[in-house]
Order: sequence, then structure tokens, then C-alpha cells
Amino acid sequence: MEKRKLRSQAWFGGNDKDGFIHRSWMRNQGFPGDVFDGRPVIGICNTWSELTPCNAHFRELAQRVKNGLWEAGGFPLEFPVTSLGETNIRPTAAMFRNLVSMDVEESIRANPIDAVVLLCGCDKTTPSLVMGAASCDVPTIVLSGGPMLNGHYRGQTIGSGTVVWRFSEAVKAGTMSQQEFMDAESCMSRSAGHCMTMGTASTMACMVESLGLSLPGNAAIPAVDSRRKVLAQETGRRIVAMVHEDLRISKILTREAFQNAIRACAAIGGSTNAVIHLIAFAGRVGVPLTLDDWDKYGRDVHTILDIQPAGRFLMEEFYYAGGLPAVLWKLAQVGQLDEGALTANGKTIGENVKDAPNWDSNVIREYENPLVESGGIAVLRGNLCPDGAVLKPSAASPRLMRHRGRAVVFESIEEYKARIDDPNLAVDETSVLVLKNCGPRGYPGMAEVGNMGLPPKLLARGITDMVRISDARMSGTAYGTVVLHVCPEAALGGPLALVREGDWIELDVEARRLHLDVDEVELARRRTEWIEPEPAFKSGYQSLYVKHVMQADKGADFDFLLGCRGHEVPRESH
Ligand code: FES
Repeated sequence: MEKRKLRSQAWFGGNDKDGFIHRSWMRNQGFPGDVFDGRPVIGICNTWSELTPCNAHFRELAQRVKNGLWEAGGFPLEFPVTSLGETNIRPTAAMFRNLVSMDVEESIRANPIDAVVLLCGCDKTTPSLVMGAASCDVPTIVLSGGPMLNGHYRGQTIGSGTVVWRFSEAVKAGTMSQQEFMDAESCMSRSAGHCMTMGTASTMACMVESLGLSLPGNAAIPAVDSRRKVLAQETGRRIVAMVHEDLRISKILTREAFQNAIRACAAIGGSTNAVIHLIAFAGRVGVPLTLDDWDKYGRDVHTILDIQPAGRFLMEEFYYAGGLPAVLWKLAQVGQLDEGALTANGKTIGENVKDAPNWDSNVIREYENPLVESGGIAVLRGNLCPDGAVLKPSAASPRLMRHRGRAVVFESIEEYKARIDDPNLAVDETSVLVLKNCGPRGYPGMAEVGNMGLPPKLLARGITDMVRISDARMSGTAYGTVVLHVCPEAALGGPLALVREGDWIELDVEARRLHLDVDEVELARRRTEWIEPEPAFKSGYQSLYVKHVMQADKGADFDFLLGCRGHEVPRESH
């Protein structure tokens, strides 16, 4: 193949003062002179951080990638970007996703980088890195950190997050002691890796694999399995070839790839957070993708992966059963995969997954024997959510999919926490819990608080699910009949802001309808009384975020970050 002059040569290829500057300082790291000879310079974008426990093993993975890169004739340069640890960052990691995407985009463009390997793991680290790379349009390959090993507690397998919601409600219901709850802590997270349920991290790892952004098999290999290290080395080898082939990310992120990912999300019972992230990816590469596409392409797809929170198993069993290629092959066999979509290894996705074996049909079920028939994310419309809302049917209770109940309203998550334990709270199992002001602008950052825990007095009676509605998100590890991402959000004056205690609300998932049973005249009157909440911050990043974040149906990206700005070499620095 003809050797093209790469962008890194604009830094390293000259014999003048600037070339001297760019090379000389780099040589203080002990690089021999011939690494500047025009070979592909590959950035390894690393989200390692001890504050991001899910990505804390990434230093070794980066080294494995480098081994592959050197082998294939590349010049690896690892660089850090802000890491987002879902469990530590407040007010919510999602508020920083767009910020990190800017960090990634500007780091790539400003430096002598021809292509990138993205090391992703914890929830927001995957979308933020993909969004940044997409806006540069350089050859890009994703290596996920892999899930943790299964949690084990007193003879039972327990899954990240999912068990936290379940056990904390058991404590409230009086069926689990505080000591037992504390004992479970170390049993849940017992190896390196990200959440091993089909939470947002595992979902996004499956999304990048089904989009074609990683090598086949990337999503499910456990973090501590030696085959994850092999994959890292192969990923390093492959990105060098991608540079020679000019296989840029825009050639992979096509509309067909997004349709495949939406179907895959339905088949695996993936997180509702994928809706927001994929729409944001599409926005960066100029591919039209709407909320309605999620219903259009996902609705008829069966959920065939029996994994928590929707099902029983965890990522470890998913890997042993065959991983995502086995699921994608089943989709291909029923005509639910566009097999022609190009992937990072230069082959089509159809070629990659052809005849992928399924070793355990308890875990990856036969398509004719699904966990849930209509597994996609349901996109709801109605006077309560004119611009849409989402619900994950595979994690909801069939008996509540059509429901009419009276609203119990919380103006903020703090008000919810203050009132929910009150034995005198006027609530029963037919009530609908409504939470406001937790959307992109309202929280800010659209926190994962939509799966409000149930009132203890109902838990004690054995009630395990209720209809809940908010403009928030929920953790991919969570479950319940939970309506999320209501648009426009309450803080923007959407109809959610006008709901009052005791209003009747109707949910009909089959009809995709969410209705506030209050007449237009009364709603108009309430609107005149609505006062826009004052933003908490008048300066700094939070004020920028609130000013520019778009609504959930638009991917909650910043309005000024839409589109691809390319990778033209910037003007010289000295
Ligand atoms: Fe990091 Fe779940 S908290 S993946």
C-alpha cells in the first residue's frame, strides 16, 4: 500500500527550528530518532484513574496496546484525559461527559496524532471519548476495560448496582439486616473491571462493538481474563493498519451502524442511557438519528440475553456463552442486522459474526424463546412529554405497562428523600411517583435518580414496583416501571413542571402514550404561575453547561459541539 504523508509529519518531519523543537523534547523520554521517520503516531487516550475504580487497571492494558503498536510499526504515545468515575463524581458524571469530549477532541487535534486507541470502561468514559474522536474524524478503535468477575454473597451471585437497589430496599422492608447489607459491599466488587451487569458500561461496550468501533469480542471479556490482554495487543496492531487504510471513524459510524446498535441494545436488554449517548455520537458525525429511530428499529427485536437487571446472569456468563458476536449472529439470522456495515478490523459486521457459536442457550436464548418479546426501548409521547420520554420494557413489570394512577409529586430529589420514608405520606401501590427538576439543566447533568426507591411502608407490604416518572436518567443496573428522560424537562418549563399532587396520569406502553389528565385551560393557568428555577451557578463550568446543554432527545450534547471539526493541522506554536 502506498505510504501517505501523515499529519504527525507536520510536527516531526521538518528539519527546521520547529521540527527540532517537536522532536528534541520528545527524545527526553528515550525515544530513538527513527521513531520520527513518518510511521503512524498513535495516541492512546487513557482514562486511568484511581478515582475511577472501573478503569484503575488501564495502565497495564495501555502497555499491552503499546506492545501491539510497536510490533506493527507504529509509534505509541499515551496521553491522559479527564476520567469520569460514576460512583464518586458529584453532582453526576454525566454533567462532565461533554467536557471530557472536548478534552479528547482538542487533545487529538492539537497534537502529532494520526489515530487513536480509546481506553474506555466506566459508564461515561466510553461516550465522552467516542464523541471527542468522532469530532476529529481520525482512525479510531475502542478497547474496553472489561467487566468485573461475578459478585458472590452467601451462596448467591450478585450483580453490580442491581443488588444495591435490591438490598437497600430489603433493608427498608425489614427483610435484611444492616450488618448483612454492609457485608455484601466487598462481595459485589471483587476484581478489576466495570459493572458486570448489563448496566451502562457493559451496554456501551456492546454498543461500540455493534457499531463496529472495536475488534469483535471486545464487550464481554472479563477485565482480568488473559484474553483481554490479548485483545489489547491485537487492538494496538490493528490501529496501525487502520491508518494505512485511512479507515476513519466517519466510515464506520454510518446510519446502518447506528441501526445495528439500536437492535443490539434491544437484544441485550441494554441501558436507557445508550439512547442519549448514541444520539450524541450521531450528532458528532452528522448522521440523522432521532428518538423515534429507537422505537422504529428496536421495537420488534426480542431481548435474548438473560442478564441482570432484566434477567438472571452476568457478563462473565455472557462471555462464556459466546459474547456479543453470538447475539449479533442471531440477529443476522432473523434479518435484524445490516451485515454490510464496515467495522474497525476492515471487515463487515456480517463477516465478523458469521456462525458465531452460542455455548449456553440459557444465557443467550434462542430467538424464538426470548426473555422479552418486544425488547427495545419504548419511546413515549403525550401531553406530559411532547418531545418524548423513554421506558425499558424488559426491566419493567408487565402488570404496570398500562396504568392510571394519582401523582405523588416531588419538586426535587432532596424533597423526595425528605418525604419518602414518612409513614403518613399519602401514597399507595397505585400512585405514580413524579420527580421534577432532575433533567440536563435542572440537576444539572440529568442524574441517575429516576428509579426512586419505593416508600418503606409499601415495601413492607411486599410491593416491589410502581410507576415512576421523571426528567432524570436511571442507572443501567436499575429496574422497574420507570419513565425517564421526559422532554422538555421541568426546569425548562415542560409540562412535567405543571404536574400537581393528586393529578391523574395514564401510562400505556403498548400505545406509547403518557398522558396527564388535566384539561388545557387548567394547564395554561398553572403555566402562568410557573416560575423558572434560578440556576445554582452563575459562572464556571456549570453555568456553561446549563446554557448550552440540549435536551435528552437531542443527546444532551452542547449545542456548539454538534458536528465534526476534522483534524486539520493547527498553525505552528513557535
Ligand atoms: Fe463504573 Fe458501573 S460504576 S461501570
